[in-house]
Amino acid sequence: MLQLVAVVGAGAAGLCAARHILSRPGSFAPPVVFELGDSVGGTWRYDERVGTLPDGRPVLSSMYRDLRTNLPKEVMMFPDFPFDPQLSSFLPHQEVQAYLERYCENFQLRPHIRFSTVVGNVRPVVTATEGEERKVTWEVTSSDLSGRQKTESFDSVLVCSGHYSDPHLPHVPGIENFKGKVLHSHSYRFAEPFSGQTVVVLGAKSSGLDISIELAKAGAKVILSHRDRPLKFPLHPAIQQSSSVVAVEDNGSICLQDGSLCDADVLMFCTGYNFKYPFLDAAQLGLDVQDHMVSPLYRFMVPPAFPKLFFIGICKIICPFPNFNCQVQFALAVLDGSVTLPPREQMEEEVRQEQQEKLQRGVQHRHLLKMDQSQWEYCDVLARSADFPPLLPVVRSLYEEVWRQRQIHPENYRRNNYRIVSSTEWELID
Ligand SMILES: Cc1cc2nc3c(=O)[nH]c(=O)nc-3n(C[C@H](O)[C@H](O)[C@H](O)COP(=O)(O)OP(=O)(O)OC[C@H]3O[C@@H](n4cnc5c(N)ncnc54)[C@H](O)[C@@H]3O)c2cc1C
Ligand SMILES: *[C@@H]1O[C@H](CO)[C@@H](O)[C@H](O)[C@H]1NC(C)=O
Repeated sequence: MLQLVAVVGAGAAGLCAARHILSRPGSFAPPVVFELGDSVGGTWRYDERVGTLPDGRPVLSSMYRDLRTNLPKEVMMFPDFPFDPQLSSFLPHQEVQAYLERYCENFQLRPHIRFSTVVGNVRPVVTATEGEERKVTWEVTSSDLSGRQKTESFDSVLVCSGHYSDPHLPHVPGIENFKGKVLHSHSYRFAEPFSGQTVVVLGAKSSGLDISIELAKAGAKVILSHRDRPLKFPLHPAIQQSSSVVAVEDNGSICLQDGSLCDADVLMFCTGYNFKYPFLDAAQLGLDVQDHMVSPLYRFMVPPAFPKLFFIGICKIICPFPNFNCQVQFALAVLDGSVTLPPREQMEEEVRQEQQEKLQRGVQHRHLLKMDQSQWEYCDVLARSADFPPLLPVVRSLYEEVWRQRQIHPENYRRNNYRIVSSTEWELID
């Protein structure tokens, strides 16, 4: 019997899921991909609007107008689908969107996507007890633009709904006293309106740093406030680093960790995003969903209590598309029976041990889903256990090189162009 899989979301992860499901017609029926937007691409579908749309739905994409990728296309690509070789290595977001549309056409995914359809509920239903093995099917309730609801039954669900849409806003005591504008990078689109203003940017991760550079170039004065060690590389002269924001005084002045005060026109939170799955009942699934954490997930994908539900793309600090590609292939190998998961208790125990070990190494709880160095071993393990080709060593090598360059030349590293010369080597081209 062919299995019917529901895919929630038609961003990069959902498209990748659909592509691999369709390539296994012996095991899977064509998937049903639910997408609340009217096109594919998710994050990469730039929308100049912010806030709430006329139909009442929030704008989900956090893409800004002048964003260029922070990974070169040579490693950013899905391993089985290159970008146009004519393009430079670091791309404007439009090129990534075009790439994902091409991916969708090439693998003929579009007929399987239901656009403008929002998944409102995903629920496991225990249908029978055959001996000791319980049988779980999945009820997916969705609604289209007219509000018409539909509930359908699936054998499994791949959750590919992304996690860069719900802004994380840390509490700043007294923020109601701030007289200027408060916004989150989720609602930032371009820098011109900030010209001549003083902007306190909170957070110096990729968005915080990138947006600070855009603002500085557009003539804003930027106070880059963060709690990491001071950045060592040369920054634009209009960017000044400061310690973290601790409060806003009664008169609207901003109070910093080091005791100093500053005044600003804008507070821009580049403080990341929350995980949010409004269509899942976490408790029922045995999951704990917090702002920065979803747990327990075996191999960062599977709730041990419900091993036919998979989260794709939940890890942070990864090479996203290649990572999704590995996760999807592993998930399908589990579903088609070629990989057997350990029993529930063992999965729970493995997750617990892994988390324990990280916490003992000093990793903060909120960073438990950050992969960084461990992403390569992770993908290798998935590839070995599910018997698909591992990521080539050159992907890691170039990713790490670019990461180094970004630390040294945050403004200019995107000028480099690279070429892959073998499975282990890349070269820099003029
Ligand atoms: C500002 C920014 C810059 C980035 N830069 C890079 C980069 O340079 N290189 C890189 O590789 N990665 C980058 N990323 C990471 C990026 O998130 C991934 O590349 C990738 O786009 C994530 O894909 P996804 O499918 O997991 O999620 P998304 O792209 O968010 O797609 C999720 C989809 O699910 C849909 N959806 C959500 N909920 C529902 C629902 N209930 N019902 C139906 N549909 C639903 C959404 O509409 C959306 O289309 C960046 C991210 C951001 C935010
Ligand atoms: C706001 O109040 C603080 C004392 O709490 C003071 O040092 C600062 O100068 C004041 N700022 C303005 C703009 O008046």
